[in-house]
Amino acid sequence: KSWWTRLKYLTNLYCLLASQSETKVSMAMRQTPLTCSGHTRPVVDLAFSGITPYGYFLISACKDGKPMLRQGDTGDWIGTFLGHKGAVWGATLNNEATKAATAAADFTAKVWDAVTGDEVLTLAHKHIVKSVNFTQDSSCLLTGGNDKIIRIYDLNKPETEPQEITGHTSAIKKALWCNNDTQILSAADDKTVRLWDRNSTEVVKQLSFDMSVSSMEYIPDGEVLVITYGKTIAFYNALSLEMIKTVDAPASIHSASLHPDKDFFVAGGDDFKLYKFDYGTEEELESYKGHFGPVHCVRFSPDGELYASGSEDGTLRLWQTAVGKTYGLWKCVLPGEF
Ligand SMILES: *[C@@H]1O[C@H](CO)[C@@H](O)[C@H](O)[C@H]1NC(C)=O
Ligand SMILES: *[C@@H]1O[C@H](CO)[C@@H](O)[C@H](O)[C@H]1NC(C)=O
Ligand SMILES: *[C@@H]1O[C@H](CO)[C@@H](O)[C@H](O)[C@H]1NC(C)=O
Repeated sequence: KSWWTRLKYLTNLYCLLASQSETKVSMAMRQTPLTCSGHTRPVVDLAFSGITPYGYFLISACKDGKPMLRQGDTGDWIGTFLGHKGAVWGATLNNEATKAATAAADFTAKVWDAVTGDEVLTLAHKHIVKSVNFTQDSSCLLTGGNDKIIRIYDLNKPETEPQEITGHTSAIKKALWCNNDTQILSAADDKTVRLWDRNSTEVVKQLSFDMSVSSMEYIPDGEVLVITYGKTIAFYNALSLEMIKTVDAPASIHSASLHPDKDFFVAGGDDFKLYKFDYGTEEELESYKGHFGPVHCVRFSPDGELYASGSEDGTLRLWQTAVGKTYGLWKCVLPGEF
């Protein structure tokens, strides 16, 4: 009797359609985000699994120290991972959504069984851990944080010391596997983004910025790297670190995500809004205010049908990529139906 089956009946408990009554009288094309409450502090990171036979899943990292697992298309709460003794700064799922990993202010990263909710491993660090990422086969976990060291844990041999990669001179914000797990991309408060060779642990290429980057996303399909700093959303080739383009948003941006088909990208930050841009023309297509605080993280779902945002206001919101389409809990309301 897994945690999963026990809690399944609780679906729909936390996710409510925002402003339902308002939607009914308005047009069919109104963006109606699904609001996922349950966290009690700012939501600072989120990640989706790949698409599994059970759909896809969403994990959220929160300063309340209690990362949550949800059904990805509806936001339905599945369970809460209990065990950290401080703010959780980073969270990820493996592709199959069978494992979760979290990075926390209690100087640990934890690996969890995402089906039962049980803690599997606690990996002690020397400082706050900010970032976690599995290899595609889930055999290794990459961590990064305030001790400036990138670590690679072999999860099949958890008792062995991790491989360490040093070089950053300030706290690491994000560390991600790239190029089919043969290289690592890291972003740090030393205002650099570095591409490392996993075997030699040498820097292959490096980008320097005028300020610390606020977020980094890696899209394996096409090797695109999405970086945000200030009001800028910048796109790079992840292998050569050559710039593709930069786009400036009207506000300071904390996170951006590129649609899997590379048609659009979304971004959110200081002004509580979510912006959607055309990736080709760089035109701002839509912007929505829904959160009651700065947006800390935004990610497209693996099927590209929605994007999720996490905010200082303690909620996650799910937004439709194609507004008005029937998908998940969204029902297309045709004009004249009421
Ligand atoms: C981490 O790694 C997996 C697979 O190796 C990848 O699909 C995922 O998007 C990565 N990123 C994050 C932020 O977890
Ligand atoms: C990625 O690595 C795996 C395992 O080493 C290999 O089977 C696969 O062919 C590689 N894919 C690419 C695109 O290089
Ligand atoms: C890295 O090391 C492994 C194992 O030693 C080897 O099979 C692989 O070819 C190396 N990869 C590169 C890019 O050097």
